[in-house]
Amino acid sequence: MSIIKNLEKDIYDLIKEAGYEVERFILKPSDRPDLGDYQINDCMNLAKIYHKNPKEIAEDIKKKLESDDRFTNINIAGPGFINITLSNSFLVQAVNQMNQNFYNNIDKQEYKKIILDYGGANVSKALHVGHLRSANIGEALKRLANLLGCEAISDAHLGDYGRPLGLVLLEIKKRYPNLEYFNPNYEGNYEKISLPITNEDLEMIYPIASQKAKEDIEYLEEARIMTLKIQNHERGIYDLWKKIVGISKEAIKKIYDILNVSYDLWNGESDATPYVSELLEICEEKKIITESDGAKIIEVKEETETSPMPPLLLVKSNGTISYETTDLATIIQRKKEINPDEIWYLADERQALHFEQVFRATKKAELIDSKVNLEYIGFGTMNGEDGKPFKTRDGGIMSLKSLIKMVKEETKKRINYDIVPQDKVEHTVELIAIATLKYADFIPYRTTDYIFNPSKFSEVEGKTGPYLLYSTIRMKSLLEHAKEIKQETYHVLQDEASRNIILTLLKLPNVLTKSFEIKSLNEIAEYLYILTNKYNKFYMENKILNEKNHNLQESWLVLTNIVYRMNLLLLDVLGIKVPEKM
Ligand code: ARG
Repeated sequence: MSIIKNLEKDIYDLIKEAGYEVERFILKPSDRPDLGDYQINDCMNLAKIYHKNPKEIAEDIKKKLESDDRFTNINIAGPGFINITLSNSFLVQAVNQMNQNFYNNIDKQEYKKIILDYGGANVSKALHVGHLRSANIGEALKRLANLLGCEAISDAHLGDYGRPLGLVLLEIKKRYPNLEYFNPNYEGNYEKISLPITNEDLEMIYPIASQKAKEDIEYLEEARIMTLKIQNHERGIYDLWKKIVGISKEAIKKIYDILNVSYDLWNGESDATPYVSELLEICEEKKIITESDGAKIIEVKEETETSPMPPLLLVKSNGTISYETTDLATIIQRKKEINPDEIWYLADERQALHFEQVFRATKKAELIDSKVNLEYIGFGTMNGEDGKPFKTRDGGIMSLKSLIKMVKEETKKRINYDIVPQDKVEHTVELIAIATLKYADFIPYRTTDYIFNPSKFSEVEGKTGPYLLYSTIRMKSLLEHAKEIKQETYHVLQDEASRNIILTLLKLPNVLTKSFEIKSLNEIAEYLYILTNKYNKFYMENKILNEKNHNLQESWLVLTNIVYRMNLLLLDVLGIKVPEKM
C-alpha cells in the first residue's frame, strides 16, 4: 500500500477514535499550501450525520491528530476545514521508504486480464497520424495496466482483409497482368516467385487505386470481385495477398519499433476469419439476422431510442464480409484463445459508432460473457496550426513517416553536437523526436483535439518531451559525478524545495490510479512536468556536489536518485526512451 493510503487509513482510525465515522476517507492535497499540506473536509458532512456543529467536530478530530507526531501545525479554517502539515521527520522516513522500495509507493489495481487492441495499421497503406495516437495511447495504457498489477495483452489488429486489399491487388494486376499469380493455369510454387514490388510501391499503389475506384464504377466492381477472391482464398490471388501482407507487415513492424510500441500479438482482421462461420451460426440461431437487399444485417437500434443507429452490416450483398464482421469474429477468437476480463479498443473518435454497433451486436448474440467489459477508448485528432487535421504542405494527408522526419529536422537544430558522439547522432535524434511527438500527444486529455507545432514541441524548454529528457539526463549525470559519495540514507530535510519534491512524490499513487481510471495519460504527463520543474528548482538552488555537510549532501543525492528513477519509470510508462546525452 502506498504511503499516502496508509496515512489515510490511520487518519480514518483517528477520526473514529474521536467518535466519528467517515464513509470513505480521502486525504486531499491542500489548495492553500500556506495553511497546510493536506486538508480534511469531512466535518461538514459529519455535522449532518451527528447533528453537531462542524467546528466542534473539527476540534475533536484536531485533538486526536495532535497526539500523532506525524502531523504538525493542525489548524481549523472557515466552518470546519482541518489543515494539516506533515512533519519533517515523517517526510524523512517516507523518503527512506521510497528509496528502499520504490514500487511500494504504488497502489495496485484489482487483477484483470485485459486485451488492448491498438495501432490498427492497415496493410499496404501508409500509417498516418491517427495511427500514431492509437499506438501511443494504447502502448502507454498497456504499460500502465501492467505496472498496476493487471495483465495487459496487446494486439496490433492489422487491417488486412477489407476492400483496400482488393484495390491494391487489382491495381497490381493492371500493372503486371503477366504475373503468375493471375495465371489460373500456373501450377508451380508461388512462394518461389519474386514480386517486383516494395512496400513503398504498395503505399503508392493504394491511393491511386482508391482514386480510380471513385471515378470508375467498373474498376470498383472489379475491386469488389478481387476482395471476394481474397476472402474465398482463391489460389494465386490468396497467395499474392499473403505475399503483400508479408511485405507490408515488415515495414509496419519497423515503424512501430521506432515508436517503441510492441505487441504480444500480431493478429490481423484476417485471423478472425476461421471464426466467421461460427459467428454466422450463432447469429442465425439467436435469430438476429435480417436480410436486406441481399445483404445480412443485424438491427442494433433499441426500441426506445430516438437518435439514429444504423444496423450492423454482417455480410454484404456480394458475399464479402465487413470490418464489423471481423471485429465480431475476433471477439469469439479472443474469448477462445485468451479469455480476457476486458477488451479495450483504441481508435479515433470517428469510429465510435462502429464500436457501438459491434458491442451491441455482441450483446445480442451473446458472443462473450456479459461480465466482460468491452470498452471503446476514443481520442481526438492531432491538428496543424490551422486547427484542421495535420496535413502535408501541399494539403495531402500527413503520413506518419513524414511527420517523424519533420520532427527529426527540428530536433537536429537543437542537439548539442559537442557532446553527442557523431556515431550516436542519428539514434539520439530519433529518440528525441519520438519523445517530442509522444509527450505532446499525452499532454491534452485523450479526447481533446490539439495543435501540434513541431518547432514549439521540440524546444528543450517548456512543457515538452525534450525538456523532460534533458532534465532526466542531467539528474543522471549528477549522480554519476557523485558516484564516489555515499547515497544510502536520507537524513535531513531543511529546505523548502526538497519538501516540495517529497510532497509531489507522495502524490504519485493518486496520479496513476486516476490515469488508469480515465484511461488518459495527461495526468502522468502533467505530473512528470511538475515533478521535474520542482526538481530543477531544487537543483538550481543547491550546489549539491560542493556541499560540505555530508548528511545534507547525501540526503540531496538520495532525493535526486528517487526523482531520477521516478522520471525513468514514468517516461517508460509513456513509452519514451531516454538517450545517453543530448
Ligand atoms: N484498421 C483500423 C483503421 O485503420 C483500426 C482498427 C481498430 N481496431 C479494431 N478492432 N477495429 O481505422
